[in-house]
Amino acid sequence: MKGIILAGGKGTRLHPLTRHTNKHLLPVGREPMIYNPVKNLVACGVDEILVVTSSLHMGEIVACLGSGAEFGADFTYKVQEEARGIADALRLGRRFAGDEPVFVLLGDNIFERPLTHFVENFRSAQGERGARVMLVKVGNPSAFGVAALDERKVVEIQEKPENPKSDYAVVGAYLYDDRVWGIIDGLSPSSRGEYEITDVNNAYIARGELEYDFVQGIWMDTGTFESYHRANQMLFERDASSIES
Ligand code: G1P
Repeated sequence: MKGIILAGGKGTRLHPLTRHTNKHLLPVGREPMIYNPVKNLVACGVDEILVVTSSLHMGEIVACLGSGAEFGADFTYKVQEEARGIADALRLGRRFAGDEPVFVLLGDNIFERPLTHFVENFRSAQGERGARVMLVKVGNPSAFGVAALDERKVVEIQEKPENPKSDYAVVGAYLYDDRVWGIIDGLSPSSRGEYEITDVNNAYIARGELEYDFVQGIWMDTGTFESYHRANQMLFERDASSIES
Protein backbone atom coordinates (compact mmCIF):
# COMPACT_ATOMS: atom_id res chain seq x y z
CA MET A 1 0.00 0.00 0.00
CA LYS A 2 1.23 3.48 -0.88
CA GLY A 3 0.39 6.78 0.81
CA ILE A 4 -0.66 10.01 -0.91
CA ILE A 5 -0.93 13.34 0.90
CA LEU A 6 -2.80 16.06 -0.96
CA ALA A 7 -1.46 19.43 0.13
CA GLY A 8 -2.40 21.78 -2.70
CA GLY A 9 -5.15 24.39 -2.82
CA LYS A 10 -5.00 28.10 -2.19
CA GLY A 11 -6.15 28.17 1.43
CA THR A 12 -8.13 31.34 0.72
CA ARG A 13 -10.37 30.86 3.75
CA LEU A 14 -7.27 31.36 5.92
CA HIS A 15 -6.07 34.60 4.32
CA PRO A 16 -3.91 36.48 5.24
CA LEU A 17 -2.15 33.57 7.01
CA THR A 18 -1.83 31.72 3.72
CA ARG A 19 -0.76 34.62 1.48
CA HIS A 20 2.94 33.86 1.86
CA THR A 21 2.89 30.16 2.64
CA ASN A 22 1.05 26.92 2.13
CA LYS A 23 -1.75 26.16 4.58
CA HIS A 24 -0.24 22.76 5.34
CA LEU A 25 2.90 24.40 6.72
CA LEU A 26 1.06 26.48 9.31
CA PRO A 27 1.72 25.37 12.88
CA VAL A 28 -0.78 23.07 14.56
CA GLY A 29 0.26 22.40 18.14
CA ARG A 30 4.05 22.14 18.13
CA GLU A 31 4.47 21.01 14.53
CA PRO A 32 3.64 22.00 10.95
CA MET A 33 0.16 20.80 9.97
CA ILE A 34 1.50 18.36 7.37
CA TYR A 35 3.36 16.34 10.04
CA ASN A 36 -0.02 15.01 11.14
CA PRO A 37 -0.86 13.12 7.92
CA VAL A 38 2.76 12.00 7.52
CA LYS A 39 2.89 10.52 11.02
CA ASN A 40 -0.53 8.98 10.55
CA LEU A 41 0.53 7.12 7.44
CA VAL A 42 3.78 5.94 9.01
CA ALA A 43 1.88 4.75 12.11
CA CYS A 44 -0.21 2.59 9.76
CA GLY A 45 2.93 1.06 8.23
CA VAL A 46 2.65 3.12 5.03
CA ASP A 47 6.10 4.56 4.44
CA GLU A 48 6.25 5.20 0.68
CA ILE A 49 4.49 8.54 0.46
CA LEU A 50 3.71 10.91 -2.41
CA VAL A 51 3.12 14.56 -1.50
CA VAL A 52 1.18 16.65 -4.04
CA THR A 53 1.25 20.43 -3.85
CA SER A 54 1.35 23.50 -6.09
CA SER A 55 4.55 24.67 -7.82
CA LEU A 56 4.36 27.89 -5.80
CA HIS A 57 4.83 26.07 -2.49
CA MET A 58 6.77 22.96 -3.49
CA GLY A 59 10.09 24.42 -2.34
CA GLU A 60 8.83 25.16 1.16
CA ILE A 61 7.11 21.78 1.46
CA VAL A 62 10.33 19.98 0.49
CA ALA A 63 12.33 22.16 2.89
CA CYS A 64 9.90 21.21 5.66
CA LEU A 65 9.65 17.46 5.00
CA GLY A 66 12.96 16.52 3.37
CA SER A 67 13.59 13.01 2.11
CA GLY A 68 11.37 11.36 4.72
CA ALA A 69 14.28 9.77 6.64
CA GLU A 70 13.40 11.75 9.77
CA PHE A 71 9.94 10.13 9.75
CA GLY A 72 11.06 6.65 8.74
CA ALA A 73 9.47 7.27 5.33
CA ASP A 74 10.47 7.77 1.70
CA PHE A 75 8.89 10.83 0.07
CA THR A 76 8.13 11.49 -3.59
CA TYR A 77 6.84 14.91 -4.68
CA LYS A 78 4.57 15.96 -7.53
CA VAL A 79 3.36 19.35 -8.68
CA GLN A 80 -0.32 20.10 -9.28
CA GLU A 81 -0.22 22.90 -11.85
CA GLU A 82 -3.77 24.12 -11.29
CA ALA A 83 -6.15 23.70 -8.36
CA ARG A 84 -8.86 21.65 -10.10
CA GLY A 85 -10.10 19.58 -7.20
CA ILE A 86 -9.05 16.73 -4.97
CA ALA A 87 -9.67 13.95 -7.50
CA ASP A 88 -7.58 15.85 -10.05
CA ALA A 89 -4.70 16.10 -7.57
CA LEU A 90 -5.04 12.42 -6.78
CA ARG A 91 -4.76 11.59 -10.50
CA LEU A 92 -1.08 12.59 -10.26
CA GLY A 93 -0.45 9.56 -8.05
CA ARG A 94 -1.18 6.97 -10.71
CA ARG A 95 2.36 6.06 -11.73
CA PHE A 96 3.63 6.28 -8.18
CA ALA A 97 0.99 3.82 -6.99
CA GLY A 98 1.24 1.33 -9.88
CA ASP A 99 -1.13 -1.53 -9.11
CA GLU A 100 -1.00 -1.10 -5.33
CA PRO A 101 -3.88 0.21 -3.21
CA VAL A 102 -3.55 3.78 -1.96
CA PHE A 103 -4.18 5.46 1.37
CA VAL A 104 -5.06 9.08 0.57
CA LEU A 105 -5.02 11.77 3.25
CA LEU A 106 -5.98 15.40 2.84
CA GLY A 107 -3.14 17.40 4.35
CA ASP A 108 -5.45 19.67 6.33
CA ASN A 109 -7.32 16.91 8.18
CA ILE A 110 -6.14 16.45 11.75
CA PHE A 111 -6.78 13.23 13.63
CA GLU A 112 -6.26 12.92 17.34
CA ARG A 113 -5.71 9.16 17.17
CA PRO A 114 -4.00 6.83 14.68
CA LEU A 115 -6.04 5.38 11.82
CA THR A 116 -4.76 1.83 12.17
CA HIS A 117 -8.26 0.33 12.54
CA PHE A 118 -9.25 1.85 9.20
CA VAL A 119 -6.39 0.18 7.31
CA GLU A 120 -6.76 -3.11 9.20
CA ASN A 121 -10.46 -3.28 8.31
CA PHE A 122 -9.73 -2.53 4.64
CA ARG A 123 -7.31 -5.48 4.68
CA SER A 124 -9.36 -7.97 6.68
CA ALA A 125 -12.92 -7.18 5.51
CA GLN A 126 -12.21 -6.20 1.91
CA GLY A 127 -8.87 -7.82 1.03
CA GLU A 128 -7.73 -4.34 -0.05
CA ARG A 129 -10.38 -4.29 -2.83
CA GLY A 130 -12.89 -1.53 -3.43
CA ALA A 131 -12.88 1.63 -1.33
CA ARG A 132 -13.22 2.62 2.31
CA VAL A 133 -14.04 6.02 3.83
CA MET A 134 -14.28 7.37 7.37
CA LEU A 135 -17.29 9.10 8.85
CA VAL A 136 -17.80 11.40 11.80
CA LYS A 137 -20.91 13.02 13.26
CA VAL A 138 -20.75 16.82 12.91
CA GLY A 139 -22.91 19.80 13.76
CA ASN A 140 -22.41 21.50 10.37
CA PRO A 141 -22.67 18.75 7.73
CA SER A 142 -23.28 21.23 4.90
CA ALA A 143 -19.58 22.14 5.05
CA PHE A 144 -18.49 18.62 4.01
CA GLY A 145 -19.19 15.57 1.93
CA VAL A 146 -22.21 14.00 3.66
CA ALA A 147 -22.98 10.26 3.75
CA ALA A 148 -26.57 9.02 3.58
CA LEU A 149 -26.65 5.63 5.33
CA ASP A 150 -29.03 2.69 5.52
CA GLU A 151 -28.54 -0.05 8.16
CA ARG A 152 -25.33 -1.36 6.65
CA LYS A 153 -24.05 0.80 3.84
CA VAL A 154 -23.42 4.27 2.56
CA VAL A 155 -26.09 4.74 -0.10
CA GLU A 156 -24.99 8.14 -1.38
CA ILE A 157 -22.50 10.91 -0.66
CA GLN A 158 -23.46 14.52 -1.37
CA GLU A 159 -20.80 17.21 -1.60
CA LYS A 160 -21.61 20.17 0.66
CA PRO A 161 -25.41 19.79 0.33
CA GLU A 162 -27.76 22.59 1.37
CA ASN A 163 -30.14 20.02 2.86
CA PRO A 164 -27.94 17.21 4.17
CA LYS A 165 -29.49 13.74 4.48
CA SER A 166 -27.52 12.98 7.65
CA ASP A 167 -25.07 14.43 10.19
CA TYR A 168 -22.25 12.17 9.01
CA ALA A 169 -19.38 13.97 7.32
CA VAL A 170 -16.96 12.02 5.13
CA VAL A 171 -13.51 13.01 6.36
CA GLY A 172 -10.38 13.39 4.25
CA ALA A 173 -9.04 9.82 4.59
CA TYR A 174 -9.71 7.42 1.73
CA LEU A 175 -8.56 3.89 0.84
CA TYR A 176 -8.81 2.81 -2.79
CA ASP A 177 -7.80 -0.16 -4.90
CA ASP A 178 -6.11 0.39 -8.26
CA ARG A 179 -9.44 0.82 -10.09
CA VAL A 180 -9.56 4.35 -8.71
CA TRP A 181 -7.49 5.55 -11.69
CA GLY A 182 -10.05 4.40 -14.23
CA ILE A 183 -12.80 5.99 -12.15
CA ILE A 184 -10.96 9.33 -12.10
CA ASP A 185 -10.48 9.14 -15.89
CA GLY A 186 -14.25 8.93 -16.27
CA LEU A 187 -15.08 11.97 -14.10
CA SER A 188 -16.44 15.30 -15.31
CA PRO A 189 -15.95 18.53 -13.37
CA SER A 190 -18.72 19.46 -10.93
CA SER A 191 -20.79 22.65 -11.07
CA ARG A 192 -17.99 24.42 -9.17
CA GLY A 193 -15.51 23.31 -11.86
CA GLU A 194 -13.69 20.74 -9.71
CA TYR A 195 -13.01 17.03 -10.02
CA GLU A 196 -14.67 15.91 -6.80
CA ILE A 197 -13.45 13.12 -4.56
CA THR A 198 -17.13 12.63 -3.68
CA ASP A 199 -17.78 11.56 -7.29
CA VAL A 200 -15.01 8.94 -6.97
CA ASN A 201 -16.65 7.62 -3.80
CA ASN A 202 -20.10 7.57 -5.42
CA ALA A 203 -18.67 5.52 -8.29
CA TYR A 204 -17.55 2.89 -5.76
CA ILE A 205 -21.01 3.03 -4.11
CA ALA A 206 -22.59 2.34 -7.51
CA ARG A 207 -20.45 -0.81 -7.74
CA GLY A 208 -21.44 -1.82 -4.20
CA GLU A 209 -17.81 -1.57 -3.11
CA LEU A 210 -17.60 1.28 -0.63
CA GLU A 211 -17.33 0.46 3.07
CA TYR A 212 -16.84 2.75 6.04
CA ASP A 213 -15.54 3.14 9.58
CA PHE A 214 -16.21 5.81 12.16
CA VAL A 215 -13.39 8.09 13.24
CA GLN A 216 -12.02 7.20 16.67
CA GLY A 217 -11.22 10.23 18.82
CA ILE A 218 -11.45 13.80 17.59
CA TRP A 219 -11.23 14.84 13.93
CA MET A 220 -10.92 18.31 12.50
CA ASP A 221 -10.35 19.85 9.16
CA THR A 222 -8.48 23.11 9.43
CA GLY A 223 -10.12 24.98 6.58
CA THR A 224 -11.53 27.87 8.62
CA PHE A 225 -10.12 30.08 11.38
CA GLU A 226 -12.39 28.47 13.96
CA SER A 227 -11.47 24.89 13.10
CA TYR A 228 -7.80 25.82 12.69
CA HIS A 229 -7.78 27.39 16.14
CA ARG A 230 -9.48 24.37 17.72
CA ALA A 231 -7.08 21.93 16.04
CA ASN A 232 -4.15 24.00 17.29
CA GLN A 233 -5.43 23.88 20.84
CA MET A 234 -6.24 20.18 20.72
CA LEU A 235 -2.83 19.07 19.48
CA PHE A 236 -0.99 21.52 21.69
CA GLU A 237 -2.72 20.13 24.78
CA ARG A 238 -2.35 16.50 23.67
CA ASP A 239 1.36 16.88 22.95
CA ALA A 240 2.02 18.99 26.04
CA SER A 241 0.49 16.32 28.29
CA SER A 242 2.50 13.56 26.60
CA ILE A 243 5.69 15.59 27.06
CA GLU A 244 4.96 16.29 30.75
CA SER A 245 4.02 12.70 31.59
C1 G1P B 1 -13.08 18.13 1.05
C2 G1P B 1 -14.04 17.14 0.42
C3 G1P B 1 -15.19 16.84 1.36
C4 G1P B 1 -14.68 16.39 2.71
C5 G1P B 1 -13.68 17.41 3.28
C6 G1P B 1 -13.01 16.86 4.53
O1 G1P B 1 -13.68 19.39 1.13
O2 G1P B 1 -14.49 17.65 -0.83
O3 G1P B 1 -16.02 15.84 0.81
O4 G1P B 1 -15.75 16.22 3.61
O5 G1P B 1 -12.64 17.68 2.32
O6 G1P B 1 -12.07 17.77 5.04
P1 G1P B 1 -12.83 20.75 1.24
O7 G1P B 1 -12.67 21.01 2.72
O8 G1P B 1 -11.53 20.52 0.57
O9 G1P B 1 -13.66 21.80 0.58
